[in-house]
Amino acid sequence: MIQKEILFTKNQIQNKIKDIANQINLDLLDIEEEVICICILNGAIFFFSDLCKKISFPIKLDFIKVSSYGSKTKSNGFIKFTKDLDINIYNKRVIIIEDIIDTGLTIQQLIKKLKENKPKDIKICTLINKLERREHNVQIDYSGFEIKEGFVIGYGMDLNENFRALENIYILDSL
Ligand code: IMP
Ligand code: MG
Repeated sequence: MIQKEILFTKNQIQNKIKDIANQINLDLLDIEEEVICICILNGAIFFFSDLCKKISFPIKLDFIKVSSYGSKTKSNGFIKFTKDLDINIYNKRVIIIEDIIDTGLTIQQLIKKLKENKPKDIKICTLINKLERREHNVQIDYSGFEIKEGFVIGYGMDLNENFRALENIYILDSL
């Protein structure tokens, strides 16, 4: 049986998303070029949809799907892109929207892949920045909650594809 405790309530999550959206709006309000927001499926789906609705300048939305292989709670260094972007990001401003950055491998590999298409700028936005296991140094432009350790589920985040649809974010007591 999975034991879990609430880490962030749905209200705390929504307040944090307002803060992040305010920051993005301040930074990019005067930008006249198109901005493409990219959702990393599946985990970022709810964060992406709640955040994008609060962005006050015109954006386009696109989706990319990444799978990593490894144990159920840690990727092992292999990343596979299972759905590519549909929008051409050449010379465009891009914001990558991720649920959680852990070792940094996924986001590092994704940045490398997107840079092949020569976007004008890439900004990184994550709801959760998990610091304990960082192995790849990535510059995060917008970060919601910082946590030191633990495995979290809910609000898009899964354990073996379970628990994504929970409204709050929970931390597992044990695995
Ligand atoms: P990274 O490549 O190690 O940075 O891991 C990032 C990916 O692993 C995220 O996109 C998540 O899908 C998943 N992940 C990492 N930590 C957690 C967690 O605590 N809960 C759920 N998924 C996680
Ligand atoms: Mg995941």
